[in-house]
Amino acid sequence: MTSRSLPGPPPGLLAQGYRQLMAAFPTGVAVVASFERDGRPWGMTCSALCSVTLDPPTLLVCLRNGGPTLAAVRHRRAFTVNLLHRDARATAELFASGDPDRFARTRWSAPAGSAGPHLVAAAHAVADCRVSRICQVGDHAVVFGEVYRAVQHHRLAPLLYGLHRYAIWPPPGDRAVGMVTGVPEPPHSVVVSPVDVLRSAGAEFTVLTHQPIVGQADAEQLLGLPTGQLLKTMVFRTAAGGFILAALPAGARVSYRRLSTVVEVPRAKLRQADPADLAALGMQPGGASPVCGRSGVVTVFDPAVAGMGVVYCGSGRADQTVRIAAEVLIQLVGPRLAAITAD
Ligand SMILES: Cc1cc2nc3c(=O)[nH]c(=O)nc-3n(C[C@H](O)[C@H](O)[C@H](O)COP(=O)(O)O)c2cc1C
Repeated sequence: MTSRSLPGPPPGLLAQGYRQLMAAFPTGVAVVASFERDGRPWGMTCSALCSVTLDPPTLLVCLRNGGPTLAAVRHRRAFTVNLLHRDARATAELFASGDPDRFARTRWSAPAGSAGPHLVAAAHAVADCRVSRICQVGDHAVVFGEVYRAVQHHRLAPLLYGLHRYAIWPPPGDRAVGMVTGVPEPPHSVVVSPVDVLRSAGAEFTVLTHQPIVGQADAEQLLGLPTGQLLKTMVFRTAAGGFILAALPAGARVSYRRLSTVVEVPRAKLRQADPADLAALGMQPGGASPVCGRSGVVTVFDPAVAGMGVVYCGSGRADQTVRIAAEVLIQLVGPRLAAITAD
């Protein structure tokens, strides 16, 4: 029997049955994103995503015709696939809402060489893809993307969608994912927030909640915190992929020469972290903290910190500040104590 001779139900019934069929095939949830000609970011929630080939590493996404995201992908011939984590349901809803200002309401970055926006807070991993082919099928375009870079931002289980609702991979423990898929834990797998590190160490500290700030001037002017007690944390990435945290009094300037000597990394191989780097440490811009839940991070405190008494430092979040005794902080972090401020 050829397919031509197969009987077919009435069109309406077919659509309904097809929806039901596919609803019973749960998937992960992604936001496919790119940039328009004018540089404006666009992105949409997408579950029609699947792997096509390993060599070259190719995936496909199906995007509705006539939408701004597809238009941006067609223009740029490149896009990102942001795989949403379990806590990113609101982002999935936002990027399915048609809201023209969706990017004003979510944290994103565009690291050098990226194909499109990276949703650094909502995605556990992001793939940068260049378009290899676009096929028009009915009311959607099937876009094939060759993955040229994949970055892991968080070690959180993926968000799932199926049976017309969102779900979280059971059991909710993140380790289960690695075990089920056989994926080995990456070295930077566990990102515990700085506040959770302090809590689990039983340290005495308080958290001040306030409007989001971006730097020292905000901390002084918007929050009225005393300059002499503000602790500045600078985050650096090394060319080899390592992280360095440098903590010093907010009023002082870091000496790159001294810092690079202390950490034994040439100055040219040290760069200040961007938002994606911070996200990998569980931190937001404006919230860099001297306490880090990720292993393998080198932390240096200028000795002047020891004499600061009670300090205000980053919590990891832009809208919270930690108040803690400097000596407690030093005991807990166990940093290298070395002069890193400029004269
Ligand atoms: C869980 C979920 C998965 C979705 N998957 C797709 C998809 O694979 N392809 C698609 O075209 N639309 C999908 N949508 C709908 C789009 O996200 C929605 O139509 C969005 O507004 C399109 O963005 P645009 O206006 O930039 O085209 C999905 C929506 C949800 C809630």
